[in-house]
Amino acid sequence: MRLLWLGLPLVIVGSIVLPAMVGGAYSPTRSRAVRKMLEHARIQPGDVLVDLGAGDGRILLHAARQYRIPVVGIEIDPLRWCYCRLRLSLSGVRHLATVRLANFFDVDLSFATVVTFYLSQAAADKLKAKFEAELPDGARVVSYRRPIRGWIPTLHDPEDDVYVYTITRTSRGGSSGDDRPGPSPGEESR
Ligand SMILES: C[S@@+](CC[C@H](N)C(=O)[O-])C[C@H]1O[C@@H](n2cnc3c(N)ncnc32)[C@H](O)[C@@H]1O
Repeated sequence: MRLLWLGLPLVIVGSIVLPAMVGGAYSPTRSRAVRKMLEHARIQPGDVLVDLGAGDGRILLHAARQYRIPVVGIEIDPLRWCYCRLRLSLSGVRHLATVRLANFFDVDLSFATVVTFYLSQAAADKLKAKFEAELPDGARVVSYRRPIRGWIPTLHDPEDDVYVYTITRTSRGGSSGDDRPGPSPGEESR
């Protein structure tokens, strides 16, 4: 009983306070929005998807099952990480799916070609510079309910509140000759 009382504050800090402070408290994306996020990402063979703040792994599972691509979750909450890991390991796509216990701000995202997230607006604002520095050309950033302020979305689905951004070299201030639509630093997305 005493152990329980000692452990409770740790659980509260690790599962509620910490995630809320560094990226956003847990709140699952609705199934329909998950489907739309992945449809709008235009996933191709060869893509690698990363979900920032994987939660229970629903985006990872759907992406691996539907598109048969490697998926990586990053989750800071140890309890949710355990649960997500368990779900992935019991799924038929465990060979495609992993989840890391980490703060995504500390993880190099240069291997990702599709990044999904549902986080706080403050986290979305802070991630912008990280995406510009690390993501390869052509990578898609798909956000639920949070625009990346200062970028113009390639697509905004107002019905499900999904934003898609495509990374181009020009979006980082370089010149690629690539005229695909993409984020334009300095311009507001809405
Ligand atoms: C709003 S939930 C989204 C969960 C899942 N991606 C979904 O769409 O259903 C945000 C998740 O991000 C995690 N999180 C918040 N900040 C984080 C950080 N800096 N690094 C890793 N995970 C983080 C939280 O613990 C929580 O599970």
